[in-house]
Amino acid sequence: GSRDKEVMFKAHDFLAKLYHHSLINTRQGEKALEYLKQRGFTEEIIKTFQIGFAPDSWDFATGFLQKRNFPLDKAASAGLLSSRDFDGKYFDRFRNRVMFPIWDHKGQVIAFGGRILGEGEPKYLNSPETKIFHKGKFLYGFHMARSHIRKKQQLVLLEGYVDVTAAHGAGIQNAVASLGTALTRDQAELIRRHVESVVICYDSDKAGLNAAMKASEELGKAGCYVKIARMPDKMDPDDYIQKYGAERFKSDVIGSAQTVMAFKMDTLRKGKNLSDEGERIKYIEEVLREISSLEKAVERDHYLRQLADEFSLSLSALKQQQFQFYKQQK
Ligand code: UTP
Ligand code: MN
Ligand code: MN
Ligand code: MN
Ligand code: MN
Repeated sequence: GSRDKEVMFKAHDFLAKLYHHSLINTRQGEKALEYLKQRGFTEEIIKTFQIGFAPDSWDFATGFLQKRNFPLDKAASAGLLSSRDFDGKYFDRFRNRVMFPIWDHKGQVIAFGGRILGEGEPKYLNSPETKIFHKGKFLYGFHMARSHIRKKQQLVLLEGYVDVTAAHGAGIQNAVASLGTALTRDQAELIRRHVESVVICYDSDKAGLNAAMKASEELGKAGCYVKIARMPDKMDPDDYIQKYGAERFKSDVIGSAQTVMAFKMDTLRKGKNLSDEGERIKYIEEVLREISSLEKAVERDHYLRQLADEFSLSLSALKQQQFQFYKQQK
């Protein structure tokens, strides 16, 4: 019932404070603090995002929750503790990890993502789905980004926790993350309720590219106007900001984001030599296929004309070919 949820919220709030304290004020947090500073986290970012550290212990959180008379079974069903198979004894789920609190849209902590220090599996251990945490309905950082999204009339959609904290530090406070999962319809609709214009800047790898295409479709269906930002291969927004700085990220990545179609055309172009006749025709056909999948007639017309201009082709031939691809899709 709602009483259960209340206890779960309280336990999260309590542990978020405790983990944060353990990171910034205790000896056992020193190596985690060192790790974060090496990655470019400032004290301000650590405070703003209430980042913490779960010590390498089986009973750190369990002990504190017990002392404060939190019902441990509730803390376990909130995903904060686990229990031993053979006797049901509770122990800490998060151990020796940097802790990122995840908030709901009012700013209540409802879950955690815990990062291993350095290499190891899993890289992030996240809270499971619980009564108060439905992964597909939240966006990381949303409650902090909300006012900035309104002000800038734009939302920047990223993949990971650290991408959001780095973007925030770089002055892009209208950034949120879908946390590595495919953007859901619920998330797309949540976004559209607040803003029309979205820039997607996912990791520059195959998985990120596919996820960006899917997210752009979902956002398009929800009625958003989507652009996609491009970064050098294998980088994510955090990598980029650490390497090239905030200003270049703002101008060369976010500020240079392209419409989905322009982005796709650039991607298709890559690795082709367009002065070669065969490759040029292949490229044109691939673009026509993309054009044929566009919903709006005005958009199809726009890109057909662009293609006709660029390659000095007759518009009617392009239209004819495009229509054939369109029929094949049906
Ligand atoms: P990435 O693998 O791109 O990690 O996953 P990252 O955010 O760049 O992490 P750092 O910079 O190495 O610390 C993107 C997001 O996918 C989720 C997390 O939300 C992560 O931020 N993820 C990834 C998990 O939940 N578990 C994992 O093991 C890995
Ligand atoms: Mn802010
Ligand atoms: Mn990734
Ligand atoms: Mn990444
Ligand atoms: Mn990263």
